[in-house]
Amino acid sequence: MSESTNKQKEKILVTSALPYANGSIHLGHLVGYIQTDTWVRLQRMLGTECYFICGDDAHGTPVMLRAEAEGVTAETLIDKMRHQHLEDFKGFNIKFDYYHSTHSDENRELVIEIYQRLKKADLIEKRSIEQLYDPKRKMFLPDRFIKGDCPKCHEPDQYGDGCEKCHTIYTPMDLINPFSTISGATPIIKKTEHLFFKLSTCEDTLKNWMQGNLGTFKQEKNKESKQPLQGESINKLDEWFESGLRDWDISRDAPYFGFPIPDEKDKFFYVWLDAPVGYMASFKKFCELTGKANFDDFWNADSPHKLYHFIGKDILYFHALFWPAVLSKANYRTPDKLFVHGFLTINGRKMSKSRGTFINARAYLDIKALNPEYLRYYYAAKLGNKSEDIDINLKDFVFRVNSNLVGKYANIASRTAGFIHKLFAGKLCRSLSNEASSLLQTFIDEAKTIENFYQQRQFNEAIRVIMNLADKANEYISDKKPWDISKKISLQADDNNQEDDKDRNKLHEICTVSINAFRLLTLFLKPVIPVIAEKVEKFLNIESLDWQQHSALLLNHKINKYKHLVSRIEDKHIDELIEVNRKAMNEITETSKKQTETSDATTISFEDFAKIDLRVAKIINAEHVEGADKLLKLTLDIGDVQKQVFAGIKSAYQPEQLIGRHTVMVANLAPRKMRFGVSEGMVLAAGPGGKDIWILQLDEGAKPGMKVQ
Ligand code: MSP
Ligand code: ZN
Repeated sequence: MSESTNKQKEKILVTSALPYANGSIHLGHLVGYIQTDTWVRLQRMLGTECYFICGDDAHGTPVMLRAEAEGVTAETLIDKMRHQHLEDFKGFNIKFDYYHSTHSDENRELVIEIYQRLKKADLIEKRSIEQLYDPKRKMFLPDRFIKGDCPKCHEPDQYGDGCEKCHTIYTPMDLINPFSTISGATPIIKKTEHLFFKLSTCEDTLKNWMQGNLGTFKQEKNKESKQPLQGESINKLDEWFESGLRDWDISRDAPYFGFPIPDEKDKFFYVWLDAPVGYMASFKKFCELTGKANFDDFWNADSPHKLYHFIGKDILYFHALFWPAVLSKANYRTPDKLFVHGFLTINGRKMSKSRGTFINARAYLDIKALNPEYLRYYYAAKLGNKSEDIDINLKDFVFRVNSNLVGKYANIASRTAGFIHKLFAGKLCRSLSNEASSLLQTFIDEAKTIENFYQQRQFNEAIRVIMNLADKANEYISDKKPWDISKKISLQADDNNQEDDKDRNKLHEICTVSINAFRLLTLFLKPVIPVIAEKVEKFLNIESLDWQQHSALLLNHKINKYKHLVSRIEDKHIDELIEVNRKAMNEITETSKKQTETSDATTISFEDFAKIDLRVAKIINAEHVEGADKLLKLTLDIGDVQKQVFAGIKSAYQPEQLIGRHTVMVANLAPRKMRFGVSEGMVLAAGPGGKDIWILQLDEGAKPGMKVQ
């Protein structure tokens, strides 16, 4: 290859969204990672130079709070999570060239450099804003950590950024009866200074980018192909432009886990400013470690290479507005493509913890009968190139894997490979009849179609074509009945006549055609099921299935013995999955409820007991709660403070019977938001329920606030 053609050769930098470091990878996340990995594997098979980069998104309030709850530093937590994520990805054969973290030197340096460039271009502005502040926890509250009643439909328990019931978007200040989900306190409004990126000045830049006029696609004739967005995303952006671009708040006040902003006191970069810069940082680290690529070649404004981001539809706003605007204004290249996928639903509904369908990657990997590539196959069979949601129906999952991968695909080899060894010393025949060649030719003819479907991320279409071919191969085998022929041969075993030779040749050809069909199907499926394909390569006794060499048939070639490749899934494996997952989920909930380090369930240490702050409480008020059939609202005096508690004792007590009595309460129970308000503790009572509930009573002399020990 001459130097000039070498230069023209397309190089692609591909990324998947960086998962948050505060949670585990679940089946929903895997949609995007599997999609990207499959696509990258195809590129590699086609000989395209392609780098696949990812990493953990380590910063932000949730990470900070979770680390606190676990009693570790944020660094320890993100380190642990990064390893966990890597294990999960490895389990599903998702193979990154590099997996970094946004909490890294490379990222800090890049973020600061970008910030300085934006500042120099006069695109950063300081403004005084009012924000909700948790007076108990002494921190400003992100929208997601404030709840209250929806200002429009009055649905209780809604987040600060919008109502899940009536879908109204609002700011936390609009909430009725707001409370901090961290401490339960009522937030106060407090002034603070924040830094804004002037996104409102970037409309032209962004529109240019959307048309494909910013990037490196100038050489492309086809207008559509140079646009970075799919149709649905374009519509979204048009909506956003229509409602006007607002400047973007890029700073957060301490306490915050993130990078400090230079020349500012107690200000940190908002996690979403440094998160996408993490793509650059990860690639930079990869370049430094391996020397395989040059960072500047890929990120300079005039880079000739391509940059493709695979993301879920929920983070389009960040990737299609902030990210290209920031890059372009900081004099870096912009993304060439944003490939947006939809959300995963399970059995037609959002993943849910209570239904046990919030399935973690780890739970799946722990069920040995569930080959990780079954999930890859299923996702491929469902994924198109639109950003619509995809559903995993667990029954359909079992059915498709069993009928297609095991029943149709693997069957082709298992039905015919045995004869090759038994009768032909493991060798395929030398040449094929016209009929046999033309059948295999129909497979070869589909290679381009399948390749194009993969390229366009219409994996579902690619799989449809491949499975049609598998049907063809199976029809051929059923039609030719190799097992009948083989019986004839064994009957005539010693008889060295011409009939026998004819039958042997026939059988040899049938098996050779089947093995070649199987080879082509495996090659076509390789981006989706790479490890199964590797096993097939061993079985076929070949180096590596190569897309460019797809039309080279295996003839007069020795193959290895066929080893069992894939097994059927049984319903009980799915039940097991749900069960394993539910257990793991409960453990997670338990530990995040605050870790009580008791290994022995039947006894607790004195220290554990001492953690419970039991106090004498005087019931100074008790009342019915409108709309609640079990609860009474109690106001308890425990000396220096009053606490409000919702107690499920309505079936046993009238409010009047309670007022003035002394009882015992758990005073340090984490506040709990209930439908009717926040409950700040628990009163102790005995009995099975209904009319039979007796609250604890104290002998005379005990005073409110006294510690019970
Ligand atoms: N940290 C951000 C991304 C920063 S990129 C610079 C984030 N993390 S995430 O962990 O919440 O999500 C990671 C990816 O998984 C995102 O692309 C997100 O859209 C995707 N998904 C999360 N839940 C999903 C489903 N239920 N279904 C499909 N994709 C899902 O967002
Ligand atoms: Zn509402």
